Amino acid sequence: MLKNVDVLIGLQWGDEGKGKIVDRLSGKYDIVARFQGGPNAGHTIYRNNNPVVLHQVPSSIFTPGVISVIGDGVVLNLRTLAEEFAVVIANGGSLENLKIGQGVNLILPSHCKLDELFESKLGEKKFGTTKKGIGPVHEDRAARRGVRINDLRSLDRFDTQIHTLSERHIKLLQTLDSDFSQSNVEDMRLRTQEYIADAFQMRNEILPMLINCSKFFFENRYKEILAEGAQGALLDVMHGEVPNVTSSHISPASACVGLGIPTSRIRNVIGLCKAYVTKVGSGVLPTKQNGNVGATLQERGHEYGATTGRKRDCGYLDLPALAYACRIVGPTELVMTKADVLFGSEIEAKVATAYIFKDGTRSTVYDPDQVHEIDTIEYHSFGKLPKLGDLNEFNKPKELEEYCQFISQQLSDYGVSVNMISFGPEKDQVIEI
Ligand code: IMP
Repeated sequence: MLKNVDVLIGLQWGDEGKGKIVDRLSGKYDIVARFQGGPNAGHTIYRNNNPVVLHQVPSSIFTPGVISVIGDGVVLNLRTLAEEFAVVIANGGSLENLKIGQGVNLILPSHCKLDELFESKLGEKKFGTTKKGIGPVHEDRAARRGVRINDLRSLDRFDTQIHTLSERHIKLLQTLDSDFSQSNVEDMRLRTQEYIADAFQMRNEILPMLINCSKFFFENRYKEILAEGAQGALLDVMHGEVPNVTSSHISPASACVGLGIPTSRIRNVIGLCKAYVTKVGSGVLPTKQNGNVGATLQERGHEYGATTGRKRDCGYLDLPALAYACRIVGPTELVMTKADVLFGSEIEAKVATAYIFKDGTRSTVYDPDQVHEIDTIEYHSFGKLPKLGDLNEFNKPKELEEYCQFISQQLSDYGVSVNMISFGPEKDQVIEI
């Protein structure tokens, strides 16, 4: 089988700038497809100097002639989708080339309510989810009772399935939350009814977009395809710092499952990392900086969650964690984003090279089950780094090359080196090295 699928994956805790890079690369492809995640993602791209945040629709939607696919592995909120459609149109885009996998599972208002309740029950131990219903909808998918977008083909079936599932959720909400009153029940029923009504309204627009994913990708086996990951490898449901993770797998294998293609179709794997690290939600960010360093990165990088608006924790680039992500994802290319945030700031630039644990042992290996035991971090310092300005092939400060070379050396066991640098939010602020 022809290898014609490249996969783009974040190698940190999400927010690596995937939207911008997909927007930039999408012109080289015939098809761009999302394969996991859902409205928890926030991919920012710039249109006429204005940021546009996409949650479920692929970041290629504004690229003329490219088919954008929401693959079966995605979980979709139809209400959020309607809002995104409006954003795309308002920003001069078109939905003409958008396709949606029939197997996409739908997020109902009661999934979001359950997400909120589960979080509140956890108290101090909450995961810090985006409250978009991600955990509960994946539970239903795995339990084989989820509602699929294909069910919208039959109005009766759709109506019955949503009511059945939402009544099940209401029972659960009542059982787990003694404050969930009769008026809450009625409110939830009303919101479910509104969701169904909205879905019926969107039906004529959505049905022609539906595809059988595996058939579509087989028929397009000679086309150039980019699979766009969401979140980041360190939030993988199995290989991240469980339970402070999302509910999907974030790897090239997940692209195969989410799009219905065999692994033999995968060609390149484009890994993305920021020049530093950020994280939202609960869990350990080993290199987190609380003082001026964290605040500087936060401010210069505008580090607020694109979906929830929460402040992101910021810290130095963590090479053991990046190496761990490379182990899972196997990138063949590495893109470093937001170099302009680190370079030209007043802070001393460093990268983490090893962890010292509370028992005094030292390790250069990130293990999600041991991160709570980290006591101190060993860093390699680069001192203050110069402002980058407008980079091109002939104008690259030697400090930038040294920074990238150091990263590449540390990742040499994984056969990957930094070969693209993004140094600003605009699509053309990228150089290849
Ligand atoms: P959930 O995916 O909403 O269940 O959230 C689980 C964890 O993943 C939380 O810590 C979220 O902050 C984090 N998370 C989910 N999606 C993203 C994302 O797109 N970027 C960064 N963090 C995310």
